[in-house]
Amino acid sequence: MRPSGLSGRRVLVTGAAGGIGRAVLEALLAEGMRVIATDLDVSGIAAADHLRALPLDVTDSAAVDALVARVEAEEGPIDACASLAGILATGLVSETDDAAWRRVFAVNTDGVFHLGRAMARVMAPRGHGAIVVVSSNAAGIPRHAMAAYAASKAATTMFARCLGLELAPHGIRCNVVAPGSTLTPMQTGMWADEQGAARVIAGLPEQFKTGIPLGKLATPEDIADAVAFLLSDRAGHITMADLYIDGGATLR
Ligand code: NAI
Repeated sequence: MRPSGLSGRRVLVTGAAGGIGRAVLEALLAEGMRVIATDLDVSGIAAADHLRALPLDVTDSAAVDALVARVEAEEGPIDACASLAGILATGLVSETDDAAWRRVFAVNTDGVFHLGRAMARVMAPRGHGAIVVVSSNAAGIPRHAMAAYAASKAATTMFARCLGLELAPHGIRCNVVAPGSTLTPMQTGMWADEQGAARVIAGLPEQFKTGIPLGKLATPEDIADAVAFLLSDRAGHITMADLYIDGGATLR
């Protein structure tokens, strides 16, 4: 097998303090990457060699631009990035207020646009780079009581494909990872919700499992390994792809 080529490269990760984010950090550090880990609160990210943690709200485009400029000035060129920052929103459309709708788009869609644009500006002139956007298999399957989340992820997935098309002539790849239900606080938090959404998703964990051909949920490591692969030279001819990591749920 060819080497991954990741060792020594600099990667920026958003949503790095989350359930999948932590596994992504471990996977990228294990590959020898120099990792800039960002999240709203980075105090819980354990210190490690080649790891720098910086706070970042991806909904703030000026802050995203400033962070990219700062990292490039202080550390050097960013070779790769992975957008993981996201929030879940559940509830029937009839019960979704304007603020909730806008909030989920602000994080899941605008946030990915903000980082994608900042990376396009610095990567394109250099003619190399790799971008991974963690969207969701909800981008392609209507989900009961998840309209805002699914719609925000569908927009994000299409944005990432378009970004890949724009950046391909510059030798930059942009791919989507689309997890199915993954065992992280985002999922367990949803199931623990005793009000509103829980009314319509009662018993969902079992339903989820029976709808997954492999019969189990993803682990954060399942997602992290795919992120590392798509950032690596082993995925050198892969761009604008949607990699579903959902145990076969989408195509069942
Ligand atoms: P998580 O809730 O554990 O982590 C998400 C992280 O995003 C958190 O650390 C949170 O602080 C951060 N975040 C939220 N708003 C932010 C903002 N404005 N700026 C910067 N960071 C912000 O969730 P998990 O499971 O690790 O999810 C990671 C990604 O994977 C998300 O985009 C999520 O939508 C996606 N995903 C997760 C699935 C799951 O079952 N857990 C399934 C499909 C997709």
